[in-house]
Amino acid sequence: MEVSLYSIAIFFCFFIFSVQSSTDSDNPSEIIIRFQQYLQINTAQPNPKYYEAADFIISQAKSLNLGYETLEYVKGKPLVLLKWTGKNQNLPSILLNSHTDVVPVEHHKWKHSPFDANVDQLGNIYARGSQDMKCVGLQYIEAIRRLKSSGFEPIRTVYLSFVPDEEIGGLAGAQSFAESEEFKKLNVGVVVDEGLASPNENYRMFYAERSPWWLVIKATGLPGHGAKLYDNSAMENLLKSIEIVRRFRASQFDLVKAGLKAEGEVISVNMAFLKAGTPTPTGFVMNLQPSEAEAGFDIRIPPTADTTSLERRIYEEWAPSSRNMTFEFQEKTPVYDKFGKPVFTATDSSNPWWALLEGAVKKANGKLGKPEIFAASTDAHYFRDQGLPAIGFSPMANTPILLHEHNEFLNQAEYLKGIEIYESIIKEYTSYIEPTSDAVSREEL
Ligand SMILES: *[C@@H]1O[C@H](CO)[C@@H](O)[C@H](O)[C@H]1NC(C)=O
Repeated sequence: MEVSLYSIAIFFCFFIFSVQSSTDSDNPSEIIIRFQQYLQINTAQPNPKYYEAADFIISQAKSLNLGYETLEYVKGKPLVLLKWTGKNQNLPSILLNSHTDVVPVEHHKWKHSPFDANVDQLGNIYARGSQDMKCVGLQYIEAIRRLKSSGFEPIRTVYLSFVPDEEIGGLAGAQSFAESEEFKKLNVGVVVDEGLASPNENYRMFYAERSPWWLVIKATGLPGHGAKLYDNSAMENLLKSIEIVRRFRASQFDLVKAGLKAEGEVISVNMAFLKAGTPTPTGFVMNLQPSEAEAGFDIRIPPTADTTSLERRIYEEWAPSSRNMTFEFQEKTPVYDKFGKPVFTATDSSNPWWALLEGAVKKANGKLGKPEIFAASTDAHYFRDQGLPAIGFSPMANTPILLHEHNEFLNQAEYLKGIEIYESIIKEYTSYIEPTSDAVSREEL
């Protein structure tokens, strides 16, 4: 009697064990279902369901026995921080960052509903956030799931941050976090954050990004009759500037078109608005030349650019007082970190994390393109501002770049491959021990 109960118990143990393992890391359909669940939480700005996303992340953390904590720099905007404790807590830790919010959608322009996460016959998962960047956030977790089930134990501690509000500037998320006391206590040595999909077989790695400068130039001049030809009207003065800005824009764009520079390496300038005219209830007064005219430009500046000469250009050519023009910046993100150094992450031997990531990707049979500057902004710059190396990387090869577009998708095979890539990265990063100064000096000898 006792014996048979015992064997029944053993049988059940096996049964439960086998059920668990079939729903575990080695089961791709379960992995995809978890990805779909995360994508199905509507975290679109301006009303992201942040608490639902946080609950989901925490449920994953619990299933993996990871430490978790919720930080709320702004009420209603939780930041979830997970922790996988390493064997040597004195070594600087690894931070894997991702944001939980996504950009809004125009529902009717999607062929699959953007929060259903439908998979089509080709295995493409359609959802807002499938590329930007719920894929990455959950791939980190899945990679840890696999590493844990293989028995791997990290030497360095790994933190995973799931931050809010990246798509609206990151003030309530990565910015507050990176500048906080909590963050200092994590003793972070390197940050991995988002990159971009690659239409070819090479993954992309980003070591910097361009800083946005939002410039408004304003012209004032004597108003006059619409029939009169005279010099120095506000419109004429503004148009002169617009012509000059356009020529500069073309010269930068030509460098890209000629293949001499990548998109992230030039200064881009695009006109965001034009504001002029004397309004009437139905339009504008047509026989009057107005006394004021304004234009706004979105300028993006690589950290390697000569900002002094750009500023001179702005006050001498784009908005010169000699032409009765003024200017102001609505946003002027510095190209220097808090130590006064240009904000970029070294890609040479002075930064071991760069080569380690490259090596890890190659070990997992991934290919890499050459280091790039991100053309737009990500949260990575808040960490670089603190003087930390931060690498932008989203393992999506052979994938059209669809972030912020309609019908954003990621192929499930590519998603699964990305998990293996992160598995390799986390392994390399958490096992890395800096050579002691002793070893270095011996090598140098
Ligand atoms: C600047 O404004 C002054 C005063 O309205 C005017 O006399 C002058 O012609 C203007 N100059 C130009 C270049 O617009």
